[in-house]
Amino acid sequence: MVFAKKDILDMESLSVDEITLILNVAKQMKEISKRPVKKVPTLRGKTIVLFFHEPSTRTRTSFDIAAKRLSADSVSISGSASSLIKGETLVDTARNLEAMNPDVIVMRHSMAGASHMLAKIVKTSIINAGDGMHAHPTQSLLDLMTVMEHKGRISGLRIAIIGDISHSRVARSNIIGFTKMGADVVLSGPPTMIPKGVETLGASVTYNVNNAVCNADVVIMLRIQKERQKGLLFPTEREYAKVYGLTMERMKDAKKDMLIMHPGPVNRGVEIVPEVADGPYSIIIDQVTNGVAVRMALLYLTAGGMHNVDAD
Ligand code: CP
Repeated sequence: MVFAKKDILDMESLSVDEITLILNVAKQMKEISKRPVKKVPTLRGKTIVLFFHEPSTRTRTSFDIAAKRLSADSVSISGSASSLIKGETLVDTARNLEAMNPDVIVMRHSMAGASHMLAKIVKTSIINAGDGMHAHPTQSLLDLMTVMEHKGRISGLRIAIIGDISHSRVARSNIIGFTKMGADVVLSGPPTMIPKGVETLGASVTYNVNNAVCNADVVIMLRIQKERQKGLLFPTEREYAKVYGLTMERMKDAKKDMLIMHPGPVNRGVEIVPEVADGPYSIIIDQVTNGVAVRMALLYLTAGGMHNVDAD
């Protein structure tokens, strides 16, 4: 199959075949990370710019490691250390970065649509590492990979996404990614944090977290995104933890082979108690490991893969 996408912007614009190809390439990339020498020359001579205008631990580090494992040169700039704070526009910043001839710009930005805007004006490949409340496609792809590894399939699974759905780009990308791959997605959380009409994306909604948990094959817990909320949407964190958090008590009715995921950062004791986050159902750390593999695959396919790729 030919992977001919210039940019990775959201899950809507990836076909089932393209997602399957990315996951298969990521599986091969994961093998590289298990070797004593975790480096191949595949992207030697390529330059990757990591332009993060919002904080990140997992995404930024895993893209940097991914680039280095493929022998690309990676350059990191943050919003606060760029000339954006001197009044330069995002478009001018992107045009100046492009003038230095990078092969891929990985961007995280607080503004929804920022990556889409840049993708239209620069020839360089853009990978969206999270844009406001809109999309986080690379997180969705690593979540798909992690479920596939543990369950052997996505199709027919029931995926519960619980928490602050309204402000979560991970929720939006995962609703689209998992339903596209044949899963049933159910959303749960406080009514104040579930957007009206979200069912149009293909998910169902229950405000009863116990119902969502007891029927799920996979539960994805989300943190409360206070940095994006306007006004108070819940009484107290203690109250939230009791009514909507994933507790040991709530796990009693869960399927015995249920998986628990979280994109991070985890707010322990709020949306999930430590005993559950670190317990036997949790695959949260596997998600982080797979983040490197998926990002290696995406860098390979955008910076070096405009040719036939073995999808098996
Ligand atoms: N999941 C995720 O995007 O984490 P970071 O904000 O640490 O990159």
